[in-house]
Amino acid sequence: MTRRSVLIAPSILSADFARLAEEVARVEAGGADLLHIDVMDGHFVPNLTVGPSIVEALRKVTKLPFDVHLMMTNPDSFIKEFAEAGADYLTVHVETCPHLHRTVQAIKEGGVKAGVTLNPATSLSSVEEIVPDADLLLVMSVNPGFGGQHFIASVLEKISRARQLIDRTGSRAALEVDGGVKVENAARIIQAGADILVSGSAIFSSSDYGATIKAMRHAVRKAMPGAGAAAARR
Ligand code: DX5
Ligand code: ZN
Repeated sequence: MTRRSVLIAPSILSADFARLAEEVARVEAGGADLLHIDVMDGHFVPNLTVGPSIVEALRKVTKLPFDVHLMMTNPDSFIKEFAEAGADYLTVHVETCPHLHRTVQAIKEGGVKAGVTLNPATSLSSVEEIVPDADLLLVMSVNPGFGGQHFIASVLEKISRARQLIDRTGSRAALEVDGGVKVENAARIIQAGADILVSGSAIFSSSDYGATIKAMRHAVRKAMPGAGAAAARR
C-alpha cells in the first residue's frame, strides 16, 4: 500500500525558551506541519514545563496547528484552559485517565481534536476500545519527561501493531511517534506505519531547522517514494 504523507511536528521542549517566538517562526518557515508542545507537571513525569498561558501567547505568533501533549496527572481539569488557549490537538496519557472515554469526549466537546497516548511499557490493548473515537494515537518511543533520549528500538514493532489497530477498526486517528526521532530513523518509523513524527532535539540542536526538517522528509521519501510532504495548516 502506498502510504500517505508524513507530517513533522517539532517539539519546542528543545527550543531556546528565552527566544520562543523566534524559534517557532524558524520551524514554521522551515516547513513544520504542526507544533508539538509538551506540558509536564512534575508529578506524572519528573519535569516541569509550560501551561495554558504559553500556549495562548504562542497562538498569537504562528499559524501552525498546536499539538499539545499533556504529561500530567488529572488532565481533565485543564482541558477547557488548553482548548481556550488555542490547542488544536490535546493528547492525554492512558496512564493518567481512569475514565478515558469521558476525557476524550470532553476534549471533543471543547472543539479540539482528541489524542491518546501510551508509555513504552503500556500495552497497546489499553487503547483498543478508544481508538475508533480518537483523532490521534501517539506511541511514545521514550519514557516521557525529557528531550534528547534514545529511541527505544522495540517500539517499532508496537508502531506496526498500532497501525494495524487503526486500520482494522476503521479509525481516522493519525498515528504519531514521539521520542528520539531523528533523520536517521525517520524512514523506519514511517515504514512501520506512523503518520506524524515529533522531533525535538534533532531539529532544535541543528544549525538549520528547515534543512533538518527537509532531510527527514527526504529520508522518508527515499525509502518510500509514495510518501510526500503535506500541510496541515489551519
Ligand atoms: C518527551 C517529550 C517529547 C520530547 C521529544 O517526554 O514528550 O516530545 O520533546 O524530544 P526528542 O525528539 O529530543 O526525543
Ligand atoms: Zn511530547
